[in-house]
Amino acid sequence: MSKFYITTPIYYVNARPHIGHAYTTIACDAIARRHRMLGDDTYFLTGTDEHGQKIERAAQASDKTPQQLTDEVSAEFRALWDRMGLTYDDFIRTTSDRHKRGVQELFRKIRDNGYIYKGHYTGQYCVFDELYVDAVGPGAPCPECGRPTETVQEENYFFKLSAFADKLLKLYTDQPDFIRPETRRNEVMSFVRSGLRDLSISRSTFSWGIPVPDDPRHVIYVWLDALANYITALGYGSSDTKLYDKYWPADLHMIGKEIVRFHCVYWPAFLMAAGLPLPKAIMAHGWLLFEENKMSKSRGNIVRAETILDVLGADALRYFLLREIVFGQDGSFSFDALVQRYNADLANGLGNLASRTLTMITRYFRGEVPYPSAKAAHSAADDAIATAARDTIAAFHSAFDQYQFSRALEGAWGLVAAVDKYIVENEPWSLGEKQDEQSRARLATVLYTSAEALRIVTALAHPVMPEATAKIWAQLGLGDITKFDLRSLAWGQLHLGTKLGKVEPVFPRADKSAIERMQQMEEQGRPATAVTVPGATEAQPATPTAPPAGQFATQAVKPVSAPTATPDGKISIDDFAKVELRVGQVKVAEKVKGADKLLRLEVDLGSETRQVVAGIAEAYAPETLVGRKVVIVANLAPRKLRGLESNGMIVAASPDGGKPVLASFLEDVPVGTKLK
Ligand code: MSP
Repeated sequence: MSKFYITTPIYYVNARPHIGHAYTTIACDAIARRHRMLGDDTYFLTGTDEHGQKIERAAQASDKTPQQLTDEVSAEFRALWDRMGLTYDDFIRTTSDRHKRGVQELFRKIRDNGYIYKGHYTGQYCVFDELYVDAVGPGAPCPECGRPTETVQEENYFFKLSAFADKLLKLYTDQPDFIRPETRRNEVMSFVRSGLRDLSISRSTFSWGIPVPDDPRHVIYVWLDALANYITALGYGSSDTKLYDKYWPADLHMIGKEIVRFHCVYWPAFLMAAGLPLPKAIMAHGWLLFEENKMSKSRGNIVRAETILDVLGADALRYFLLREIVFGQDGSFSFDALVQRYNADLANGLGNLASRTLTMITRYFRGEVPYPSAKAAHSAADDAIATAARDTIAAFHSAFDQYQFSRALEGAWGLVAAVDKYIVENEPWSLGEKQDEQSRARLATVLYTSAEALRIVTALAHPVMPEATAKIWAQLGLGDITKFDLRSLAWGQLHLGTKLGKVEPVFPRADKSAIERMQQMEEQGRPATAVTVPGATEAQPATPTAPPAGQFATQAVKPVSAPTATPDGKISIDDFAKVELRVGQVKVAEKVKGADKLLRLEVDLGSETRQVVAGIAEAYAPETLVGRKVVIVANLAPRKLRGLESNGMIVAASPDGGKPVLASFLEDVPVGTKLK
């Protein structure tokens, strides 16, 4: 029996779970289930990533302590995975003691081995990605996500990453399958070849993290903290290392493509420095897009898994994601495509094959699998199905082993289509009307062949659609599918006389209303998006969004029209031009009754005077604002805050998520001037 240890990334708790997160976890669940069916001693880990500046700020923005926020959102992830029937063996939280202990032990080990030194870091940091970047200058955009970076100047501990460049390159060369797919491997190799600089692995200007051993003024860099989950969950650093000894190194770290560098460069380097074994493989899948952009909370284009579970069920979502998208590449999600796939492949495909085959066996053979015996009743078409089934088994295994889920499923559904055609051509319903021996024998053969092909597709598809296949398996009279040994799957194993279970439809057809229902549920349930800041959350439900530094910071609103960002987070100049920024002058400023954080302003824009309600009362006394020139987003749709209509938004920065600082000019600029 071989072991198989598989992990998902641990998910940040600043965002509620959506189908982007579900995508990775479902893929891992399907792989884990298949390994169990193949007899492997399988261990499947997932969890939540709960430390760091991003989480600390998200908590501030939602008026919660970081612990409250992390407890709440982590529980949501877990509840969703449970509702979806995901078979994780452990769920690690980075705020747990077992994790903290393990991370500190890893830090100590690396330090004792001479790879950590103290220094000063001055440079740019992207809080969104929790990444040190090479960008220059305050506010310079992050090369990864395009968001403004922040200047960090602090005493840090550094990791001697530069000492590992050659070892890493050797690793990628000696083990070509260490990083998959090939495109990601090439990217990583060129990144490492371009030179590695030492990496700051502690922060000293905020406290939401794991203290550095012997120097608690510093917290450990959140990525070192997070990556270590893969070993701390197994007991690394504790007195009980049974699981670690058994399962480490991981057989597969599954990740999304945006976190390749952390997993393929930093993580192996940390492990090398600590003298620990390296994971065997890292697979990076592509992004799930919605309306052409990466689905993410900050873009506000997420789809919640719950909506799909309510309307079509977990199997439909699992099948769709793994069948529709070429794993490794980006793929689009839409409700139309989901329902179309569901109807074509599940309701009309597998579901229909199961119900017509099993219903006819019930009707013509009293619910017992008939035997395809008589030579005379045998035809080449029967052999063709048997051959197709054998080929499908081999092709499915080989594609799935390469994580080519879509190809594997396409092949299996090719067999479904072939059997459908076979049934139509052989007309078992006509044979069933005849009583002669030859027709009965032929009918037995046709139904046996169909049922046996159905059994094979059902077994292969089980890791992808556990619920529905378990039902079909039981209807075939085969008992508990999770007990089936997938290694033994071969043509001709269905026994004569197997008594069928109760035949019931597995995938009821979905009509147009299913799409509308899901769209409506998303419209109603979709959390607020885009810019949310402390101080002006009244107009929207509080979402734990970290206000990106330098963002428009005075009103919780959606952008005028969502810019169509490219997958790397950049927007075009045309998108930027949609935002009308103008210089205004404050004429009147006063507190809003009953709202500590809001001010009502009247702002002269040259051509008109606007009322703007802004969440800046804690930072500015009203009288200091009168006469001051400010920058206004002038073409925002009006919104009501505390019953007052706000026509625009003042631009401000909230350094470290704290009090807003208004944008202003060093030179005098006439009122009404447009910014571009
Ligand atoms: N916390 C880090 C990972 C630390 S692992 C040691 C992180 N968290 S995350 O919440 O941002 O989740 C990232 C993962 O969620 C992605 O790598 C990917 O697996 C999954 N996805 C989130 N949104 C996704 C899409 N829109 N599409 C595909 N996968 C997505 O990064």
